[in-house]
Amino acid sequence: MNLSATGTALYNPAVQTVHIIYASTSGHTEHVVDTLISSWKGVHAQKKRAEQATPEDLLQGDMLILASSTWNTGGPEGQLNPHMHAFVAKAKDIDLKGKKVAVIGLGDSRYRYTCRAADHLVHFVAAHKGKVIEPPLCIINEPWDQDGIVKEWGAQLLKSL
Ligand SMILES: Cc1cc2nc3c(=O)[nH]c(=O)nc-3n(C[C@H](O)[C@H](O)[C@H](O)COP(=O)(O)O)c2cc1C
Repeated sequence: MNLSATGTALYNPAVQTVHIIYASTSGHTEHVVDTLISSWKGVHAQKKRAEQATPEDLLQGDMLILASSTWNTGGPEGQLNPHMHAFVAKAKDIDLKGKKVAVIGLGDSRYRYTCRAADHLVHFVAAHKGKVIEPPLCIINEPWDQDGIVKEWGAQLLKSL
């Protein structure tokens, strides 16, 4: 993979299409997803909200990315965002065998179980026989000044394929 003068990840022939399913309540996760997409040149990336996605959407693309903020869904802290929680429950019978998947979690350091959404997503992928291809990206606290971390992770993601 090549990097442009600005460090932007350029086209990697191993990646033709990336499908991203995400859950975001106040827009933080969506910002991270948009930053990632705009950092890639020559990669066809599509995003879909978890509340609009079907289990079959998990099979789309050469690579899948699951992204969710951490919530206290159902009571205890450290859970998936309610929309992602509902989506993975809906997809309980999906077979992700051989699927390359990357995971993004968001959280806030004021919570004891910080950014646990990433752990839940990794567990979901493993339980359905998918392959998590990079350590998850965890964005703690507001993402606005963390674009550099997102872009770096995105470049590494393409390189690891
Ligand atoms: C009701 C609620 C519960 C939350 N619970 C947690 C939590 O248990 N652990 C954590 O790290 N962050 C928690 N957060 C923080 C969010 O994960 C964080 O603000 C995130 O950036 C929100 O992203 P979003 O706007 O994409 O949903 C919680 C936020 C809310 C509103």
